[in-house]
Amino acid sequence: MREAPIGVFDSGVGGLSVLAEIQRLLPNETLLYVADCGNIPYGEKTPEFIRQRCSVMAGFFQQQGAKALVLACNTATVAGVADLRRDYPNWPLVGMEPAVKPAAAATRSGVVGVLATTGTLQSAKFAALLDRFATDVRVITQPCPGLVEMIEAGDLHSSALRRLLAGYLEPLLAGGCDTIILGCTHYPFLKPMLKQLIPADISLIDTGAAVARQLQRLLAERELLAQGPPAEAQFWTSASPEHMRKILPLLWNKSGVVRSFSQ
Ligand code: DGL
Repeated sequence: MREAPIGVFDSGVGGLSVLAEIQRLLPNETLLYVADCGNIPYGEKTPEFIRQRCSVMAGFFQQQGAKALVLACNTATVAGVADLRRDYPNWPLVGMEPAVKPAAAATRSGVVGVLATTGTLQSAKFAALLDRFATDVRVITQPCPGLVEMIEAGDLHSSALRRLLAGYLEPLLAGGCDTIILGCTHYPFLKPMLKQLIPADISLIDTGAAVARQLQRLLAERELLAQGPPAEAQFWTSASPEHMRKILPLLWNKSGVVRSFSQ
């Protein structure tokens, strides 16, 4: 069981930003990743649809014998993690949500910005997060439709992307944010461009590394940490495997085996 793989999924390739943190912290683990690219963007889908996709993913990783499951997607977590916890009470599950708590603790200006999907920002779970951790700070939220599609296409540098991103940053900068939460797992891939668009004293916070630490804790508690050596990470996509093979080196720094996911 220690050497069983860990399942990780996202609506697309964004969760590769989380997968990289998991591999950095837990290099002995064998990682399986499903990109549900055929259903991108989750951010504009109904919670019911996303819950159903979460259940398909969980079923697949159970079949693969995964010892733990990571929802490397904020939008899937707010919609689906509660149902998965109910359906798989003994399976270590790690979800993720925008880093409101650390951002509220870190801000000096008292103004925090959140870039996330429409689905995440409209969810009851996000509202509860603000009620719990952000009562003493001002939070400016900004949905970012279109960014995910560009990243999925492998575009991290175009001028069209820069224009779109600059427009989304405008209200955050005008409002005096000194801390910006990247509340979607696709957005860490935009850090180089973001850094060109914001003053150097604004910090960017994402949760990939915290997710990896939480996974480590859950596995350690159950004596499930692998001793290695790990097998190569394996990938599935519900859209074109060829396209994912092409952009993997850009987002994962190396190539990998990509199969078609047809559930
Ligand atoms: N990567 C996802 C997240 O963390 C969502 C992207 C999408 O809209 O599909 O929220």
